[in-house]
Amino acid sequence: MSEIALQAVGLVRQIEGVVSHTLVNGIDLSVERGEFLAITGPSGSGKSSLLYLLGLLDAPTEGEVIICGQPTSKLSESARADVRLTKCGFVFQFHFLLPEFTSLDNVLLPMRAAARMSEKDMLARGLELLASLGLKEHANKRPNQLSGGQRQRVAIARALSNRPEIIVADEPTGALDTASTEQVFSILRDIANNGRTVAVVTHDPQLAARADRRVHIVDGKIHDTALLRDRTPAPAVPLGAAAAEP
Ligand SMILES: Nc1ncnc2c1ncn2[C@@H]1O[C@H](COP(=O)(O)OP(=O)(O)O)[C@@H](O)[C@H]1O
Ligand SMILES: [Mg+2]
Repeated sequence: MSEIALQAVGLVRQIEGVVSHTLVNGIDLSVERGEFLAITGPSGSGKSSLLYLLGLLDAPTEGEVIICGQPTSKLSESARADVRLTKCGFVFQFHFLLPEFTSLDNVLLPMRAAARMSEKDMLARGLELLASLGLKEHANKRPNQLSGGQRQRVAIARALSNRPEIIVADEPTGALDTASTEQVFSILRDIANNGRTVAVVTHDPQLAARADRRVHIVDGKIHDTALLRDRTPAPAVPLGAAAAEP
């Protein structure tokens, strides 16, 4: 049975000013657990604004973001921060690693902030995550000793550190060469294949085509949706049918 991990209901985000500006203009969206969603659209169409709302980095003017069944609009700031820290992982175009920290220390940051594991378990998880992303030899290096692709993989390890249900990524391959783009995108695809929910903003139509679904945003609204891969599980085998198998 499909399970909705992330839901947007009537999301609106307005900026008040001399001229008020609507960044997100009424978005309804449900993302299933384990689904890989690509968000595309022209520059300035509100993709980042939408992603920040979905990841609770920003709060909507109207509407609701429901994370793993939990409505978030009425939560206190600290409860929102807790949901953000434990349920959402973020990857941006720029890695935003702390330059004076090693890869491992960067990966440990969200775990330290959540303070739900012993130091020993945090270290073990940090090293395991780095190893799983091919960075075992780079755990003690600083960001300036790593390539762009390696830095982005450290950022992905950091995003995964608290085992979030949802990963949101804003143009995560936007600053990478072709080989690193492929690597980072494959990692994100694997994360979704392993049951996490991934929402990625990308400019790259070839990358978007590898998602399960693509939503195209224009002027803060969903302009069109393309279902790219059927995730419906195969129907259960009727009783008795198995006996007929060779
Ligand atoms: N805090 C803000 N104040 C005013 N305008 C903003 C703010 N954030 C974004 N915008 C504007 O809103 C529009 C949508 O931005 P954004 O969500 O970043 O689009 P995208 O990621 O699709 O390029 C853009 O025109 C941008 O300049
Ligand atoms: Mg953007």
